[in-house]
Amino acid sequence: VKKINVNLGKRSYGVYIGKGILKSGLLRKFGFFTSDTPVFVVTNSKINTLHADKLKKALKGLSGKILFYKIPDSEKAKSFPVYVKAMEKIAGFAKKAKPVVVAFGGGVVGDLAGMLASTYRRGVGLVHIPTTLLAQVDSSIGGKVAIDIKEAKNIAGNFYQPNAVICDLDFLKTLPESQMRNGLAEVIKYGIIRDNRFFSFLEKNIDKILRKNMAALKRIVYTSAAIKARVVEKDELDTKDLRAILNFGHTIGHAIEAASGYLKSIPHGEAVAAGMIMASGIAVKLYMLGKSDYRRITSLIKEACPHAARHKARPDKIMKALAYDKKFTSGVNRFVLPVKIGGVKIVDNVSLGLIKEAIKEGA
Ligand SMILES: NC(=O)c1ccc[n+]([C@@H]2O[C@H](COP(=O)([O-])OP(=O)(O)OC[C@H]3O[C@@H](n4cnc5c(N)ncnc54)[C@H](O)[C@@H]3O)[C@@H](O)[C@H]2O)c1
Repeated sequence: VKKINVNLGKRSYGVYIGKGILKSGLLRKFGFFTSDTPVFVVTNSKINTLHADKLKKALKGLSGKILFYKIPDSEKAKSFPVYVKAMEKIAGFAKKAKPVVVAFGGGVVGDLAGMLASTYRRGVGLVHIPTTLLAQVDSSIGGKVAIDIKEAKNIAGNFYQPNAVICDLDFLKTLPESQMRNGLAEVIKYGIIRDNRFFSFLEKNIDKILRKNMAALKRIVYTSAAIKARVVEKDELDTKDLRAILNFGHTIGHAIEAASGYLKSIPHGEAVAAGMIMASGIAVKLYMLGKSDYRRITSLIKEACPHAARHKARPDKIMKALAYDKKFTSGVNRFVLPVKIGGVKIVDNVSLGLIKEAIKEGA
């Protein structure tokens, strides 16, 4: 098992990464569950069918009663109606005892379960057991939890750090290729913003990763999680212009999603991938990024996320969606832009004309 410590004083925790670690008795070693702790596992039917047995075995004899609570399998589960139902269920289940919430699934399950854990009785224990690549490298680490309203995604949320994150690579074996590519966009992002050597590793091993070679998966989950942990440690509450670098590619990515109609035409990761290509294009136009780094960035992204280059969103629609993005406008056209592979800068006041050109060329 590889362990990354996320050092946040009293809120510190470990991210454990490895193959088959859930069945290795890791939960037992924590000493985190006691024989009278009720365990409320949030999951969905798909993950429950595929993997619940492994978690049940790992928890056997460790805790009090256990409930596997299934939420719908889509972004729609990150909603107030689902949250309220889960809240009522956990209250009825745990009664007077303080339960532990286990988030067993992808980012949707993690965000909803995190909201539940952060608010039920003003906060109870939370363990993330992420089962998608995206959740293992990104959403389970760092404490952002949230649900959506119809006007905006992630608008009702909290910072709530988990007590532990367990990334068992075995879960990725059943993950469809499209979801692998979705997570890979974020993995490539870490290389571009922070780690040149990691980027080179990805260039050489993309096929191995897509074929789910375990050693390659271990390396990418470990390196990505470590980069996220180091950034979060320095800017836990996203107030210092550092955590913002994790949004590389996301400003235009969100605009592409909005312009192509959420959920349907382009997966989130691939929209971010397209956003990274366009942001890199802006950096070239501002003479911040060399052409050869730009070529390497675009070719790796297109290999890992082929939809990124084939989305149907029109540049004028993307520009319009950008204009509605509050973060973008109140941040005076703020962009995270690469200066090299392995380094980014936050740049304000990028001209609209230049953004438009980069979007047209990247589209
Ligand atoms: N909190 C954060 O910091 C943060 C960061 C990034 C993204 N997010 C959120 O994460 C969500 C996206 O997460 P996601 O990409 O994991 O999507 P997801 O949770 O919808 O999972 C994707 C699909 O994979 C299925 N699945 C999960 N594990 C599987 C497995 N092992 N085998 C087969 N199928 C499996 C799920 O049932 C689902 O159908 C979004 O709501 C986003 O806002 C949060």
